[in-house]
Amino acid sequence: MNRPSPEPLPPIRLASAVDVAEIVRVTNRAYVVEQFCLRGDRTDLSDVASRMRSGRFLAIDAPGQMGTLSALAYLSIEADRGYLGTLSVDPAFQGQGQAKALVLAVEERCRQEGCRFLDISVVNLRKDLFPFYLRLGFAPVAILPFPRPEKALRPLHLVQMTKALLAPEDL
Ligand SMILES: CC(C)(COP(=O)(O)OP(=O)(O)OC[C@H]1O[C@@H](n2cnc3c(N)ncnc32)[C@H](O)[C@@H]1OP(=O)(O)O)[C@@H](O)C(=O)NCCC(=O)NCCS
Repeated sequence: MNRPSPEPLPPIRLASAVDVAEIVRVTNRAYVVEQFCLRGDRTDLSDVASRMRSGRFLAIDAPGQMGTLSALAYLSIEADRGYLGTLSVDPAFQGQGQAKALVLAVEERCRQEGCRFLDISVVNLRKDLFPFYLRLGFAPVAILPFPRPEKALRPLHLVQMTKALLAPEDL
């Protein structure tokens, strides 16, 4: 029996300054799921503008709506380590493989730019996220304090997870 082939994923592009408001909107929509443990919005215009300077965002446009984002991820590089942050998929577009595609695109960029490892940090109370990152090849390596303790509604910390971007013999 012929299976229907999956929908092709939309292209992933580098976001620019004109996307800042959309990055804020989609990030905050996605991170509503953290409001059980963190107060307030996840981000704002000045935070995103500042992260545009320290790193960059990869983005996916909603189908047929260039400039309206469905998903995004932040990426920064320091020496041989990449950092993936605020992976966000608009709830209307979740479950379509966009997050996985963004993670793989971030990994590829990091590899091309000489990184050996890719790091992420996950709030320890987000139990749902650990299987997602484990399946993508990340492993927990450290516990870190939460950088904005004034936002915490209950005791929490970050779990740093890392993925090797090269074969062990090439690290
Ligand atoms: C987590 C999040 C980015 C996943 O986005 P998504 O587009 O729905 O994920 P994908 O469709 O790419 O899923 C990829 C795979 O992970 C699985 N998956 C997705 N969310 C999962 C979850 N919460 N727990 C376990 N597995 C999950 C999918 O089933 C899929 O598996 P497959 O490859 O076997 O088909 C999205 O739910 C989100 O934006 N959440 C809010 C913000 C957030 O928590 N970001 C991460 C903070 S560190």
